[in-house]
Amino acid sequence: MQNIITVEDLVEVYSDGKKAIDGISFDVEEGEFFGFLGPNGAGKSTTIKVLTTLLRKTSGRVNVAGYDLGSAAGEIRKAIGVVSQETTVDVDLTGRENVRLQGRLYQMHGNALKNSVEEVLKLVQLDNVADKEAGRYSGGMKKRLDLATALVHKPKLLFLDEPTAGLDPQSRTALWEYLKELNKGEGVTVFLTTQNMEEADKLCRRISIIDNGKIITEGSPSELKEALGGDTITLSFTEDPGSLLRSKAKAILGTVPGVTNVIDSDDSVIAYTKNAGRVVIDVVEALGRDNVRPSSLAVSSPTLDDVFLQKTGRRIRSEELNAKRETEASILGGVS
Ligand SMILES: Nc1ncnc2c1ncn2[C@@H]1O[C@H](COP(=O)(O)OP(=O)(O)O)[C@@H](O)[C@H]1O
Ligand SMILES: [Mg+2]
Repeated sequence: MQNIITVEDLVEVYSDGKKAIDGISFDVEEGEFFGFLGPNGAGKSTTIKVLTTLLRKTSGRVNVAGYDLGSAAGEIRKAIGVVSQETTVDVDLTGRENVRLQGRLYQMHGNALKNSVEEVLKLVQLDNVADKEAGRYSGGMKKRLDLATALVHKPKLLFLDEPTAGLDPQSRTALWEYLKELNKGEGVTVFLTTQNMEEADKLCRRISIIDNGKIITEGSPSELKEALGGDTITLSFTEDPGSLLRSKAKAILGTVPGVTNVIDSDDSVIAYTKNAGRVVIDVVEALGRDNVRPSSLAVSSPTLDDVFLQKTGRRIRSEELNAKRETEASILGGVS
């Protein structure tokens, strides 16, 4: 398979001196669904802006859709579609007018434009509301309109910057379906960024995990999770002044046979093991001997968040977590 994106040692330093991208290299194959997973501020949007010609690179080599970024930015722009993190919908225009306007910007006209506009509106299921002003659309509908707009000129490569951030779970799942269809059915190569590990896991054939402007690991979601070596046993300590119980638990877990690695984060301690079914009993016994009682214990398969945690010692603050906190905050605010 041919590479549709090649990035070698890309560096991006903003004018204030901030090094947002610190020498990253990666390839994306034609037809692939490729993801950049990382927390807020990792450098995902900066990478997308450079690759889509919106931001001039500081150094490194970038080839997109067969064109060199340094010398053929115009050609790249014609070959790609971009859905940026912020919506670009014009709220005073109807859905259809938004898409048509974008098509015109790509020099499309006549029947080719008309047919393509109808096709993409149908693809994102906005055809029945296409004559309504986009300002009246919900967040999920606006995102779908952004997607339609990015697709009107039939790009073979689509960049999506956190496309489901802020969407409710139902709109998110719906968007996932359109993106899968676009990739599998229409053969569009997708480069997607996300903070949502479930999204990366579900959609992407291959991901790079990015943190502080560096790629910390790369592979298929299942490869990355399998590399952690089995299941996780998570002990939570919510009532733990001075984190005493947590440090004790960490030390104890390290001595239990079959535990391959122990990590602590926030209010929990996580043990990795190939055989959780058997090891969990030894863990409980060992903790009991020292009278260390967690507030909860859970056995699960590792997630991409565990991959991030093992590499960085931190968790990816996923959109869902943030959204949940906001909802909780607003409910609390509403009660008082
Ligand atoms: N215009 C800018 N000027 C200076 N620093 C910036 C600018 N835009 C982003 N940054 C910084 O660069 C880093 C990467 O940002 P960004 O690419 O937006 O991350 P992400 O999209 O992964 O959340 C962050 O530390 C951010 O604060
Ligand atoms: Mg971003």
